Order: sequence, then structure tokens, then C-alpha cells
Amino acid sequence: MVDRRHLIEAGLAGGGALLATSLAPASARGAAMQVPSLSTLAKQRGILFGTAIGPLVATSQSYREVVVADAGLVVPEYEMKWRFIEKTQGVYDFSAVDRRLAFAQQNGMAFRGHTLVWHQSLPDWLPNAINPGNGRQLLTRHINAVAGRYKGKLHSWDVVNEAIDISPAGVGGLRNTTWLQNVGPDYIQIAFEAAAAADPGAMLVYNDYGLIYASGGGDMKRAATLRMLERLVSRGVPVHALGLQGHIEAPIRNFDPNVLSRFCNDVAALGLKIMITEIDVSDQYAPADIAVRDALVAEAYQAILGCVLAVPATVAAVTWGLSDIHSWLATYRPRKDGLQVRPLLYTDGMQKKPAWEAVASALRG
Ligand code: G3I
Repeated sequence: MVDRRHLIEAGLAGGGALLATSLAPASARGAAMQVPSLSTLAKQRGILFGTAIGPLVATSQSYREVVVADAGLVVPEYEMKWRFIEKTQGVYDFSAVDRRLAFAQQNGMAFRGHTLVWHQSLPDWLPNAINPGNGRQLLTRHINAVAGRYKGKLHSWDVVNEAIDISPAGVGGLRNTTWLQNVGPDYIQIAFEAAAAADPGAMLVYNDYGLIYASGGGDMKRAATLRMLERLVSRGVPVHALGLQGHIEAPIRNFDPNVLSRFCNDVAALGLKIMITEIDVSDQYAPADIAVRDALVAEAYQAILGCVLAVPATVAAVTWGLSDIHSWLATYRPRKDGLQVRPLLYTDGMQKKPAWEAVASALRG
């Protein structure tokens, strides 16, 4: 039991709620302190909340506890990518993914696959092995091997990742990748059909970035994405959802919820579901002050999730990590002042940040 004197010494006496909670009978205190997890809040809305994971869930007990507390779904950040799975042609190493899947199953979490077909994180041997004569066979063999291994165990797959390119480098709106060059523009359809054959139970997702902001580039990419999805659906291709990656910046600028909502509902009108698949908020250009930065990051989470979660077709919201202890942004979007980036919901010491409250608030609706 915490006595009032202790609280006054600790400078907490003013916090009536805390005082009332700390001095209340344990049962009431327990009830008052039981803040619903993000996973619980999501389930109350009939959706899933989750996050990307990696070796940290095995090496850090405090990080694992945070993931178990808040995630109802997990997705390997890197370990299901081709470069990691088949370093040597024909030699597969699924050991890391098997461990992540076991972690998810032991903790009652859903599991996402990321990603079967991408232009990045390809094994070193692929560029010299692939040609227009065998491209389709290499692509479908990979999908059969990886999606087939986890048949019936996954919530969803990011089947094709980042295929749209509206820049001059694109070819007919598609990124000029080894898949376009060696399989042809139908590689997207071929990939989804192969994934559906390998794992008929998984929700099959087209995943991309650059679809959030209201800028000119955003409009063009949203239009190109919608056209591609319309083409796939009209051909009866088994694509089930659009994944909005959601890598955004604080302070949030150039964002119009009406534009994003309209796009999401246009996609839903095709019969597709919507997911936020990789949301995080870069504070690379935000002010150095931590309280200011954390508030701007929280505001960005609230703005995007508040918008997308209001779309009836939205089925999941996934962050690209949970704690600032690990984010790809520390390597790829570092701050010029050298301060640690703070893009996620928990500090590196696993303390909840304003961003956590913002996501909870968005999930409450
Ligand atoms: O595991 C190796 C390690 O053995 C080696 O010592 C080290 C140094 O070379 O590299 C480690 O692999 C790195 C891997 O992350 C695990 O940390 C790769 O080099 C690095 O390229 C890889 O970066 C990942 C990137 O995708 C490329 O796969 C990031 O963690 C990951 O956050 C990022 O995620 C992407 C999504 O898949 C797609 N959407 C964009 C998003 C951000 O770029």
C-alpha cells in the first residue's frame, strides 16, 4: 500500500487520480490501472492491431512483453524476405520464420507474411539466374515454396510489394523491376494466382507506400493503384486487400483525410479490404525537444489512423515496430542533430509515449 506521505515526497500527491488509485483497495486499484491493450481495443472494433517483429522478441524480455501485451498480430520485418529465406539458390532456411510463427501461436496472435514479390531484398544469386525464359518459373517456385510451407497458418500475405511507379522510370505505371523485365506485366496476376493456389486460406494483399498524402504525387499513385486493382479484380484475380504502408513524417503536412477516405472507399467498392500495414512516424525533421517531437508524432498517428480506421473495409492496423529501441528509421532516416529517433509507441525503455495514447484513441474511435 502506498501512503500519502510517500506520494507527497514523490511529488505525486497532486495527481488525484493516481493518489486515489494508489491508495484504493488493491482490487479497485487493479481495475483502475487495467488500461485496455491496443489489441483489446482493436478487437472491440472487430479489427486487428499488430506490429512487425524480428530477433528482438527472442533477445529482449521487456520488448517481448510489450509485443505480447499490445499485438494481436505480428509480421516478420525482414525474415520472410527472399534474401533471408534462400541465400543460396535451392537452399531454404525457414528457421527464423518458424520461431516467429511459434511465438505468435504461443501468444494467440495472428501472423502476416511479408513479402513474396518485391524488387528489394532479393538474394545475390537471382540477378544472374533469372531471364525471360525462366522468370515465371523462378517466381512461382518461390511462392509455392514459401507460401506453401505456411499454408493455413497465416492471416494474410503481402503478395506483391511496391509494384507501382508513376515516375518517368516506370513502364506503364509499373516499377521497372526484374519481375516486369523477366516475367512481363502479368507478373502481378501470376503472383496472386500462385499465392492463392499455395495458401487458399490467406488474405492476399497488394502492399505499397506513397498513398497517404494529398500531394500531386499521391493523387497520381492512388489513381494508378486503383486502376491496377480494378484490372486485377475485373480479371477475377484473387487479390483481397490493399495494404497502405503508412510510413509518414511528423509534423504531418499535406494530409487531407477526405482524400484518403475517398481513395480507401473507392478501393473497398471493388470488394477489397484495407489494411494499414507498416505505420510509423519519422521525426527526422521535427524539433529536437522530445516533448514537442513526441506530441507531433502522436498527432500524425492520430490523423492517419483516425481516418483509415473509420473506413468500414479496414481490417487491420500494423505498426512497423513498437518501441524506439529498434526502427529502420534510425538507419534510413536519421536526424542531422544525431538525436535518437522516436518514431514508435514506446520509448527504448518500454515506457508508453503520447503516440501510444494516440493509437489507443484512434482504435477507440
Ligand atoms: O540480418 C543482416 C545481418 O546479418 C547483417 O549483419 C546486417 C548488416 O548487413 O544486415 C542485416 O540485414 C538487414 C535487415 O534489415 C535486418 O536488420 C538488411 O541489411 C537490411 O537491408 C534490412 O532492412 C530492412 C528493409 O526493409 C529491407 O528489407 C528493414 O529492416 C525493414 O524495416 C524494411 O522494411 C520495408 C518493408 O519491407 C517494405 N516497406 C518499406 C519498409 C521500410 O523500408
